[in-house]
Amino acid sequence: MKVLFVCLGNICRSPVAEGIFRQLSERESLPIHLDSAGIIDTHRGENPDPRSIANARRNGVDISQLVSRPITESDLLEFDQIFVMDKKNLEALEKFRNYAQASHKIVLTGHYINPTSPPNIPDPYYGTEKDFQQVFDLLHRAAEAWKRQHFS
Ligand code: 4NP
Repeated sequence: MKVLFVCLGNICRSPVAEGIFRQLSERESLPIHLDSAGIIDTHRGENPDPRSIANARRNGVDISQLVSRPITESDLLEFDQIFVMDKKNLEALEKFRNYAQASHKIVLTGHYINPTSPPNIPDPYYGTEKDFQQVFDLLHRAAEAWKRQHFS
């Protein structure tokens, strides 16, 4: 199973999601291929935001080696499940040529926190340390719920 995490820049939220899901799937030997990507290509080639690296590290997850890249049309076909962090990410993907073919695979990450009213994973880029911790906590909850639903 191939899972992709998408946010705007692929430096704050989606790398943390990738790191949390990787730790969880390695711990439980789940047969999963993980990757993350951004809507914009501004941060292409960069490691995650230092605040995301530091916060994830404080929570026991190493994302320091991840590298930002923009999402491509072929990602929409290649991945089995695509997690977006907020409704704006979703709207951005709706503009992709392959969206219609892929729409059934795209899910708001917050769906795994509250399926009836999925919260956005809020963009912490202009935020504080507290906002980065909130992102981590939300993503951790989503990852646990996703694992329970798909692998138990
Ligand atoms: P991310 O956060 O989407 O969680 O990676 C952001 C990173 C960069 C920018 C915005 C949000 N930016 O405007 O460059």
